[in-house]
Amino acid sequence: MKFKSLINDKLQAAFCKIGITPDMIAVSDASKPEFGDFQYNGVMAVAKKLGRNPRDIALLLADNIHGDMISKIEVAGPGFINIHIDKEWLGSKVTELFNSKDLTIEKNQNPKTIVVDYSGPNMAKEMHVGHLRSTIIGDSLANLFEFLGERVIRQNHIGDWGTQFGMLIAYLEEVHQNSSFDELKNLEDFYKLAKKKFDDNLDFAKKAREYVVKIQSGDKHCLELWKKFIDISLSHCDEVYKKLGVTLTKEDVRAESFYNDMLPSVIEKLELSGLLQISDGAKCIFLPNSEVPLIVQKSDGGYLYASTDLAAIKYRNDVLKADRICYVVDARQSEHFAGVFWTAKESGLCNSDVVLEHIAFGTMMDKSGKPFKTRDGGTVKLIDLLDEAVIRAEGAIKDRANFSNDEALSLAKIIGIGAVKYSDLSINRESNYIFDWDKMLSFDGNTSLYMQYAYARIQSILKKFDGEIFGSVELGSDIEHKLAIMLLSFEDILRRAANDATPHTITSYLYDLVTIFMRFYEQSPILRDDVPYNVKVSRIMLSTVAARTIKKGLEILGIEVVDRL
Ligand code: ARG
Repeated sequence: MKFKSLINDKLQAAFCKIGITPDMIAVSDASKPEFGDFQYNGVMAVAKKLGRNPRDIALLLADNIHGDMISKIEVAGPGFINIHIDKEWLGSKVTELFNSKDLTIEKNQNPKTIVVDYSGPNMAKEMHVGHLRSTIIGDSLANLFEFLGERVIRQNHIGDWGTQFGMLIAYLEEVHQNSSFDELKNLEDFYKLAKKKFDDNLDFAKKAREYVVKIQSGDKHCLELWKKFIDISLSHCDEVYKKLGVTLTKEDVRAESFYNDMLPSVIEKLELSGLLQISDGAKCIFLPNSEVPLIVQKSDGGYLYASTDLAAIKYRNDVLKADRICYVVDARQSEHFAGVFWTAKESGLCNSDVVLEHIAFGTMMDKSGKPFKTRDGGTVKLIDLLDEAVIRAEGAIKDRANFSNDEALSLAKIIGIGAVKYSDLSINRESNYIFDWDKMLSFDGNTSLYMQYAYARIQSILKKFDGEIFGSVELGSDIEHKLAIMLLSFEDILRRAANDATPHTITSYLYDLVTIFMRFYEQSPILRDDVPYNVKVSRIMLSTVAARTIKKGLEILGIEVVDRL
């Protein structure tokens, strides 16, 4: 249910009745209980524009807001409108939620095609922590858009092309001749060994350079080796995706090399549009607000990262028919995307109404505020980090209940991976992010464990209740009223998170919801014998809807719940 829209519509109707047309109406949550449930503070701006007294307008509006969802309207201060939602109406809506299976969220009637470009590791190396944020944030956004009914196309823009592949292929051929692929099990070492040989051995370096030319000119043997290398690298990625529980599959891979054949026509289109200029022999585009031009073809004819991205936009526009393209990529690439987006629009490679968005995120830091590295200063392999998460999660839960070893391990997987994901998603994505094991694996605070614990607790109450559930939600106390408001706000939150591409909007909501639920749970006995049956049922219904909301919220973020903790 679009809760806030209902209230906004009422305000809109009231404005209409008093003959005023405001620009936009948006109520906000009331900051204090005495201000009611929602507050509208747009009257002052409207009054100023019209040169009228805001309080007069607010009073007029208040007289014209009606409906059974509203119990009281007050005008406060210079012209704030405080809106109180009717308890019975709220109760009936939560009852509806209880009786519906999908939390009454309607799928968009006119779905948009949204391309989500995320993960995008480079094939020369194993996935490292630098790829974690893109993978997690991108996956949760793809889930969110899909849940709201959009047509989502996941694209994994892997880096599988470039000069370093000459070196890797030359080395692979040597290893291959020794009939052993073992060294490739560890891509990181493989890369280091190849690089060492490249630096130490002139003949090898020469061969590697020849390979670059050969691959690029389509030499069959070289391409076969190259393909073998990419396949092995990709299966490493798949292992990480599986461990992480992200939805990316091999079908979502649209690698840089996929666009090779389109590159000449992209350059041609840029030429025709008159944007292209030659600078030091390279083909460049000079951008309006930047000193640095976007280079699309080097003087030796080679293409670059930007050329491929322009071809990818054309493909997503012409073939995938995207309405919105979200690039979930490190904030340090914002200049690149600003240049690419401007060029794509200006040259007509992309229709003007397609929304191009760089969903930027900050760097992952360690506890001391430095970029995340291993003890000896190397990059942390993602797979190692995920394995450590599971081990640490096992430590965090081992003293809690009598879990069998199998049970503890499967719980630890859910909890450990959930913690890594949640802690990342719960901060504003544009900030740098401090990776802190202790904080993320805590039962208190804004953590996945806190949510999973609340969920498990509700499950145990529901299991103990053996009565039949019929009746409706009757909201007694203020905390029940507040809980109902929260439950009904879920769709508003999801739509906001989708619009702004901010998963932390969902985590903040879940944290508030669970905090309120815990307060409700402390104040309102459910199973105690002296609780009247209708009250029991009402509280069970509230708890059930809360559990479903927590579960769905976490599921969108790619995090599982557990029944026992
Ligand atoms: N491979 C790139 C990197 O590791 C990320 C790709 C992002 N997507 C894109 N369309 N440029 O930096």
